[in-house]
This record gives sequence, structure tokens and C-alpha cells, in this order.
Amino acid sequence: MSWLLKSSIGKKLIMSITGIALVFFLIFHAAMNFTAVISEDAYNTICALLGANWYAVIATGALGALVALHFIYAIVLTLQNRKARGGDAYAVSVRPKNVEWASQNMFVLGIIVIGFMILHFSQFWYKMMFTELVGHHEVSLGGTMVSPQDGAAFVKYYFSQTWVVVAYLVWYVALWFHLSHGFWSAIHTIGWNNTLWMNRWKVISQVLATILCLMFAFVTIYFYARHMLCPFA
Ligand code: HEM
Repeated sequence: MSWLLKSSIGKKLIMSITGIALVFFLIFHAAMNFTAVISEDAYNTICALLGANWYAVIATGALGALVALHFIYAIVLTLQNRKARGGDAYAVSVRPKNVEWASQNMFVLGIIVIGFMILHFSQFWYKMMFTELVGHHEVSLGGTMVSPQDGAAFVKYYFSQTWVVVAYLVWYVALWFHLSHGFWSAIHTIGWNNTLWMNRWKVISQVLATILCLMFAFVTIYFYARHMLCPFA
């Protein structure tokens, strides 16, 4: 068991498994958010289900542990790779033709994704789940008091602001690059590396990253456009 924590391949395996689990969360999250476009009531029902109950709190804790493990092992592996290159991060300044840009920038992309997540948490998670957990039944959103379970009100409020929309779109671009390489790379580490299937997994990775990011972007742009066209809806 200690090989899992000590060897390079063991650490990569932990990153791959936590990464794939996070992709499953993103599939659920993108589908959940897309519900807001179809029915605000349905979206609020889901948000209420994910509110302050023990199942939701345990799921949040598990999710936090996955992100923490993924991030800690990313730091460990990055430092290890740098050391192996003699501390010179820029030893190879010209990228070989068949190496993707994302594969060489996964750590920086990950930092950008986590950075925007802090913004996202302060806007959504903190004002929704945390507020409910500490026993408040109302929260101020731009001066108006709303229920922390009224997810649709949060989405409409934040996605009516241009800077938020621009920031989230930048986030999705970083997420696209991170996922399009990360998912493929995880499958590779797990051992699915015959040539034919590796090429297929590369395509599947890009399609998955594109669908997920387009779903997030669609929700963001839909509520922004709706606010621009009818501000009081
Ligand atoms: C259209 C874009 C998005 C919307 C409308 C949205 C909405 C929400 C809402 C309403 C919550 C709070 C749920 C609750 O606590 O009841 C939440 C939590 C969260 N979001 Fe998002 N989100 C979006 C994009 C993203 C993206 C791109 C990521 C990751 C890269 C992400 C990661 C998370 C995480 C990790 C949580 C905490 C989940 C938990 O507490 O278990 N979200 N989001």
C-alpha cells in the first residue's frame, strides 16, 4: 500500500482517480445547473435537496477531500519533476510538435481553476449551504433578502453582472484546457494505453470537456442575455 503514496506511479494514480471522480461531479453539476434554464422551480428543488442536511454535508466533505488530494499530489509531482530536471523548470523551452500545450501547463491551469473556485464558493456555496448550516433562513443578495435555497435567484443575480460573466467564461476556458488533457491523461495512467484506444480517449476527452464547458457557458450567457433583454424577469 505504501507504494501508492511513495512511488511516482502511485501518486499519479491518486491524481487520476481523484481527477476522474471530480469529472463525475462536474457532469452532475453541469446537468444540475442546466435545469435552471428549463425550470427555476426544478432548480430550486435540487438546491434545497443539496442544502443543510447530513447527506449533503458528507458529500461536500468528500468533494473537498478529493480536491485537496488532487491539489496536494499535483504540488508533490510538480516539485518532483522539477527536481528531476535539476531545478530548471525551463530546461526545454521549445515544445515538441506532438506535445499539447495543456499537458505542459496543467499545474498553472489547475491553479487558475481553483482560484476561480474561491470566487464561486464565496458567491454560491458560502451564501447558500454555509448560511443554512449556521441556521440563517435569509441572505442578502444585492440588498434584497432571499432564501439560501433559492438557487435561481443567485444565478440570476450574479449572471446579470458583466464582470462576473467575463470571469466565469475565463474560468471555463481554463477548465476546458485542464479537462481536455487531464481526463485523457488519467485514463492513460490507469493503464488503457494501447495506441488505438489512446487516440479514441483523446477525442473523448476533448468532446467531454467541450460539452461540459459549453453547458456551464450556456447557463451563464443565457441568464446574462435574459437580464439584458428583460431586466425585471
Ligand atoms: C453555470 C455555472 C455554475 C453555476 C450556476 C453553479 C452553481 C452552484 C451552486 C448553486 C452551488 C451551491 C449548491 C449548494 O450548496 O446548495 C454550487 C456549488 C459548487 N460548485 Fe458550482 N456552479 C457553476 C459552475 C461550477 C464550476 C465550473 C465548478 C468547478 C470547476 C463548480 C464547482 C462547485 C463546487 C465544488 C461546489 C460545492 C458543492 C458542494 O457543496 O457539495 N461550479 N455551484
